[in-house]
Amino acid sequence: MIRAIHHVGIAVKRLTHAYRFYRDVLGLPLLTEAELPDQGVRAALLAAGDSEIELLEPLGASSAVARFLARHGEGLHHLCFDTPDVGAELTAAKDKGAELIDATPRPGLAGQIGFLHPRACAGVLVELATPGAAHPGASNDASALHSSGLRLKRLIIGAKDPRATAGIFQRLFALPEVAMNGGPRVMLGVGRGALLLVPDAEVGGAEGMVALSMIAGDFDGLLAAFQRAGTSGVLLGTGEVTLEPVATHGVHLHISKYE
Ligand code: CO
Repeated sequence: MIRAIHHVGIAVKRLTHAYRFYRDVLGLPLLTEAELPDQGVRAALLAAGDSEIELLEPLGASSAVARFLARHGEGLHHLCFDTPDVGAELTAAKDKGAELIDATPRPGLAGQIGFLHPRACAGVLVELATPGAAHPGASNDASALHSSGLRLKRLIIGAKDPRATAGIFQRLFALPEVAMNGGPRVMLGVGRGALLLVPDAEVGGAEGMVALSMIAGDFDGLLAAFQRAGTSGVLLGTGEVTLEPVATHGVHLHISKYE
């Protein structure tokens, strides 16, 4: 059973630089930071409503995240689903023919975790996590300069055939489809969040994770924070703002005032 999007992982060159945007400007509280030698990263989790944002800095030039950065630059790296039993979920995925990176769970930043191979999910690297009690050394809200009340709403995934890619996610994770008014897009619910599958032609031919959308509890406060920080690549609409990858360490980020 998949309960929620636990986090979305973003590969960055330096955590300390990424904190300036994600913690200090967006106002996401830093929950925990730790070195994970088996994954070749120093990683941090920041709260984003019911979900989290994970920032990943490579530990060495030969690590998987370093190779990812060399090929793609900074940006969306993986998606993690929250499940009450990561071991059972990995076994079930394997029984359905999915290729795994981890056959059994191992300790990670988000609790007990395991990765599926990107080939199993239409090129998207998917992690499964069963969270532990609380984040060790969780530092509460004190690290954030302000709280914008941001929460993760949707992860947008480009696909040659959105219906077929949705089918893969539904078969592996039993995600319910959210009704949309026709068209080629497909939305799958994950807890209070969702995956939105869009034709790759709509997103410049990009396949895989292409953008994040979030809701801001304090939208005006967030705009003020962009102004204070002199954030570049901010495109303001009515009740919504889009941040270009230059501002966000490689992520197309869409933030709305309303649901
Ligand atoms: Co992760």
